[in-house]
Amino acid sequence: MFEIRLAPMCGITDHVFRTLCYEQGCDLAYTEMISAMGYLCAPEQRATKELMVRGEKEPRLIIQLFGRDPDTVAEATKRICALGIYDGIDLNMGCPAKKIAPSGEGAGLMRTPDTAFSMMKKTVEASDVPVSVKMRLGYDRDHINVLEFARMAEDAGIASITVHGRTREQQYSGEADWDMIASVKSSVRIPVCGNGDIYTAEDALNRQARSYTDSVMIGRGAMGNPWIFRKIKDLQHGRETKPVTDAERKEMILRHYRMMLGEKPERIAVREMRKHIAWYIKGMKGAAQFRAEINKCPDAERSFRLINHFFQESGNREEVS
Ligand SMILES: Cc1cc2nc3c(=O)[nH]c(=O)nc-3n(C[C@H](O)[C@H](O)[C@H](O)COP(=O)(O)O)c2cc1C
Repeated sequence: MFEIRLAPMCGITDHVFRTLCYEQGCDLAYTEMISAMGYLCAPEQRATKELMVRGEKEPRLIIQLFGRDPDTVAEATKRICALGIYDGIDLNMGCPAKKIAPSGEGAGLMRTPDTAFSMMKKTVEASDVPVSVKMRLGYDRDHINVLEFARMAEDAGIASITVHGRTREQQYSGEADWDMIASVKSSVRIPVCGNGDIYTAEDALNRQARSYTDSVMIGRGAMGNPWIFRKIKDLQHGRETKPVTDAERKEMILRHYRMMLGEKPERIAVREMRKHIAWYIKGMKGAAQFRAEINKCPDAERSFRLINHFFQESGNREEVS
């Protein structure tokens, strides 16, 4: 049975959301990416500390680091391992962002294989937990080097890799190339996790069956939809997959909200919940108007009232699966 993982996503997969995904059957989750340099310079900085929280109910957690200098990443790894909190270190070699990739971090490392190899090797040496790498197909369509990278990772002692089936140039456009992911899987002995464009339980099973990967990773398909993990598990075990009811949807939103309020100052929780709520209600009748109201709502109490009212009105709303 292949594993189902939640992708690291900045601004989305904090420990509250990861906990909700674990409850629905997610097997493994990652922190949002954390700057190795940022951590070394200011380990006590609030933003970094928040990103590094492991929730009490998270059964496993991989911390994801990004950086450009191998020694910096290795040193951060050594110090992070000493905390004894995480089950693994993941190296980000896939982030396409303008502030990251062009300066040689994230997917930018796919343009500098020597530096990438050195980073992998030094991090493995510095770590006492397994080290993995998340990569893309290459920097752009003229430089597809994922096979070389995957073999290099294996040689460096990397325990497993994740391949997002797009180039840096594609960012999130076009389609993830699962045939390339299949080629990677057949080229290395270490476990391979396939990633890209899994939006339904059927997508997960079909893409894994096409690529033979050891696990699949879900990013955008889990936004407002932690149930996707349960549905995949149901399908894997031949159980009937039940659609999510309005009552479940409402309960999830309220629980997510309360958990956020337990962790963050109200004004931050209110702001962060807006996007989650928009994803939870996507496709429902009246969603646009409700979204506009919730986006204007300044506090939690009034937000709860709006949520209750929206679902009271929902009656026979269309099912969103
Ligand atoms: C908003 C957002 C934030 C992301 N942040 C990270 C990150 O911190 N680290 C990382 O490796 N990938 C990050 N990704 C990429 C995802 O992990 C994943 O590789 C990508 O979304 C493709 O998977 P999907 O098609 O299932 O969404 C991010 C993606 C999105 C949409």
